[in-house]
Amino acid sequence: MAKKVLIISTSLRGGSNSDMLANECAKGAKEAGHDVELLSLKGKDIKYCIGCLSCQRTGMCVQKDDIADIMAKVKNAEVIVYATPIYYYEIFNKNKVYYVLNNDFSSVFEFQF
Ligand SMILES: Cc1cc2nc3c(=O)[nH]c(=O)nc-3n(C[C@H](O)[C@H](O)[C@H](O)COP(=O)(O)O)c2cc1C
Repeated sequence: MAKKVLIISTSLRGGSNSDMLANECAKGAKEAGHDVELLSLKGKDIKYCIGCLSCQRTGMCVQKDDIADIMAKVKNAEVIVYATPIYYYEIFNKNKVYYVLNNDFSSVFEFQF
């Protein structure tokens, strides 16, 4: 059955490995009949997480940036794929998407900070 697939490339580098992998993933998913959207965080206004944890209650960030539009796509997706560089043993830092998503789902997963 066709799924809504959102592929997020988080690298800010032009011609990045993440973009290349994201494109290949999109190609394969489309060939398999899925409904695919590619999203790059390059050029997006994403403010640093300030740790207020409002997203735990509202599923949204209190700061006004591009995260609201991105989260709307994330919540509409059935499958989310991250293509991200590793910087010093961690996924790359523009991943406020990841924080908001995890905090929004924290009730489902029964964990809380
Ligand atoms: C500052 C910096 C730190 C990195 N740290 C790691 C690391 O801890 N582990 C690793 O496997 N690769 C590390 N790398 C390599 C990148 O993850 C790798 O080159 C990646 O493919 C870059 O992704 P991009 O082309 O999508 O930007 C690091 C690269 C940079 C620039």
